[in-house]
Amino acid sequence: MRLKRGFALDGRAMEGNGSAVTVRAVAATTNGAAVMPANPPAPSRRLHVVTWGCQMNAYDSTRMADVLAPLGFGPARSAEDADMVILNTCHIREHATEKLFSELGRLRRLKDARRAAGGRMILAVAGCVAQAEGAEILRRAPYVDIVLGPQTYHRLPAMIAEADRAGRAVIATDFPPESKFDHLPEAAQPAGVAAFLAIQEGCDKFCSFCVVPYTRGVEASRPAAAVLAEARALVAGGAREITLLGQNVNAWHGEAPGGGEWRLARLLYALAEIPGLTRLRYTTSHPRDMDDDLIAAHGALPALMPFLHLPVQSGADRILAAMNRRHTAADYRRIIERLRGIRPDIALSSDFIVGYPGETAAEFAATLALVREIGFAQAYSFKYSPRPGTPAASAADQVAEPEKEARLAALQDLLAAQQQAFNAGQVGRRLSVLITGRGRHPGQIAGRSPYLQAVHLTAPERLIGQEIDVTIAAAGPRSLAGVSPSTHEEHAAA
Ligand code: 5AD
Ligand code: SF4
Repeated sequence: MRLKRGFALDGRAMEGNGSAVTVRAVAATTNGAAVMPANPPAPSRRLHVVTWGCQMNAYDSTRMADVLAPLGFGPARSAEDADMVILNTCHIREHATEKLFSELGRLRRLKDARRAAGGRMILAVAGCVAQAEGAEILRRAPYVDIVLGPQTYHRLPAMIAEADRAGRAVIATDFPPESKFDHLPEAAQPAGVAAFLAIQEGCDKFCSFCVVPYTRGVEASRPAAAVLAEARALVAGGAREITLLGQNVNAWHGEAPGGGEWRLARLLYALAEIPGLTRLRYTTSHPRDMDDDLIAAHGALPALMPFLHLPVQSGADRILAAMNRRHTAADYRRIIERLRGIRPDIALSSDFIVGYPGETAAEFAATLALVREIGFAQAYSFKYSPRPGTPAASAADQVAEPEKEARLAALQDLLAAQQQAFNAGQVGRRLSVLITGRGRHPGQIAGRSPYLQAVHLTAPERLIGQEIDVTIAAAGPRSLAGVSPSTHEEHAAA
């Protein structure tokens, strides 16, 4: 599976109806879960999933592979030798649609060649561009077999059957009444030592620049029991670290196991009790949902890693209000102060948008001031880019492109310097590193620090899957080099 982080995609209004067969909410007897055999057969067909965008998309891609495993789909090496290709798209960035169609053009040639050789390749477009553009994709690329939004991938088996039967494209971009999470099989492949677990989806915040509430729908939280069961299964499969995922993850408010409702802090306490689960993270959060219990959990739960991605977007209150963020810069500062009060080593990450409509030079300077004051271990920053259908897209006072570029460069210089300084500050320290796999060079292994930094070191592969203490010898802009590992077990024995 290929993951392209931060791939830029563009939005366009839906139009036309193509020649699609629309799969609406299908009955329980025909949905994906119901037609699946209990034990997946040995792979007889090959699946290639291309993932763009966020961690939620990466998670969705693995779950789509899980859904298709019972149909005999195993991983392909590349699109060239796949029987089915899924493009799992992201709508957050610019030029989404054009990149999608250029990739589709390439795949069309593969599909045609396969047909000429007497075979078949199924082509599916999934994710947020599929949700937003559904019918337009089939109009411009009628050779696509399946278009499905993020809420409907549990229906993939039924859609494949329908595409075969009808001999036409199948589209599912509705928000079905059933939750896909209730219709997913057990993971077909172990998720690895550092796993992701989606606990909520969608967002009700409606920030004025953002497409997520339109493409992922309103906020929906999975019940605590389902989350705990999936977490136990991940740990049984070898996971030591779990990152809880959601577009607005700290808004999670799920049904409690004994009735009633839990919020995220309570869920984290319950997860921390699972034996063998030593590291917990959650992303992405909204400042409005950093409630007192969640802040307190950062001081009380050793398993909760000292790293938080908390987007602020801007340091200027007028811009934050125009963005409909419903928090001020002072609110953000207070949250960080409280977190640092109970967990002094907490490292922070954030998202920023520069050049939001109407942003003045002084307002941009307020963002720089906030960054200087807080100090981030890493961050993502973007030029504002209009997303059709969102309120900010039609604002008259768009900031000129060269100005946006200059602001972005200034902000990124500052953030890069902070990241470099944060990394350099680890040199000489002994950090606990969860070893997740081989390193880039022969003989190297790699893992992540509590602060989510990549750490490389020369050490035996048998350490993969373990949490070991590593002395940090050198720091680069994006990763650390470590030496002298020794396992916790060896420490305990010493
Ligand atoms: N323009 C620029 N950046 C955006 N983001 C979301 N929508 C837009 C947009 N229209 C950024 C925000 C968000 C991150 C995932 O992407 O910073 O937190
Ligand atoms: Fe988009 Fe995040 Fe705002 Fe929700 S909280 S609308 S996902 S930016």
